Amino acid sequence: MHLARFPRVRLAHLPTPLEPLPRLGEALGIDLWIKRDDCTGLAGGGNKTRKLEFLLGDAFEQGADTLVTQGAVQSNHVRQTAAAAASHGLACEIILEERTGSKAPDYVGNGNVLLDRLLGATFRTVPGGTDMVAELEKTAVEVRARGGKPYVIPGGGSNAIGALGYVDCAREIVVQADELDLPVDRIVTATGSAGTHAGLVAGLAVMGADIPVLGIGVRAPKAKQEENVLKLARETVILLGRPDAVKPEMVVADCDYVGEGYGLVDDAVIEALKLAARTDGILLDPVYTGKAMKGLIALAKLGRFKDETVVFLHTGGAQGLFGYESEIGAGL
Ligand SMILES: Cc1ncc(COP(=O)(O)O)c(C=O)c1O
Repeated sequence: MHLARFPRVRLAHLPTPLEPLPRLGEALGIDLWIKRDDCTGLAGGGNKTRKLEFLLGDAFEQGADTLVTQGAVQSNHVRQTAAAAASHGLACEIILEERTGSKAPDYVGNGNVLLDRLLGATFRTVPGGTDMVAELEKTAVEVRARGGKPYVIPGGGSNAIGALGYVDCAREIVVQADELDLPVDRIVTATGSAGTHAGLVAGLAVMGADIPVLGIGVRAPKAKQEENVLKLARETVILLGRPDAVKPEMVVADCDYVGEGYGLVDDAVIEALKLAARTDGILLDPVYTGKAMKGLIALAKLGRFKDETVVFLHTGGAQGLFGYESEIGAGL
């Protein structure tokens, strides 16, 4: 594995810290560490910064002048893509899907949406359930028709090129853990459009690091999520020239903590947000990391991580908290 072979635009503040979470770990009875990918930089940081480094590298190689992407209304991916475009003189065309159905003023106007507007992205909103792949293509056709050169980034930046960002994160975690003399038993991450989870699995597999990754699902059921992650992890190791490195048993998702659905917050998510904030001062987000922490808390209580050293990957998203005040404010 040699990532310098891939075109890359440096956007991230790396390496992000790998730190202990002593008080939260004590509350859960486990040796808990956190990988601070909320600190990657790029309009507030988060997991998309790493993916966008490789996606932008590819976009420039293809001579693009406009980034086109999509996400839910409060998408962190969209915010970070808009920032990447702004910082490199590219136009940015966004399609936002009303995936949760919420019309609350903070949801549609604050948090990530406010930042998308501030960053100068052009965006339009479509109803939940719209074929977003077709919308991306339609927008690319429009950009071409007016003489532009679009570069289409799939939702979440999750293709094999974007997943290279998490191959690099896997390498970074292993290097840091070795420097700390920290034998890591498990990495826990939110898993949605699959690029983060797939990149980690691919990177760890190619290194032969033998650290299991547990993805806590935020949308799809377990079988579908694992299928998506495995497919993308395989595409990623093909790109790395090691097509046989990933085995199906390396991909594990627990999708029991999605609750009512994608982007819908329940009491256990609010409790997870509060616990992380009030023990170690960590700000999680309501859609991804809050749900992943909800799962981690529940599984720790079931004894699932007994005697383990667990690294929780903080994939960012706290900017989305401001889009959810009406849902979580009363619970605080
Ligand atoms: C804050 C945050 N965490 C986790 C994820 C999930 O990552 P992935 O889409 O790569 O599965 C996302 C995706 O948008 C996100 O915004």
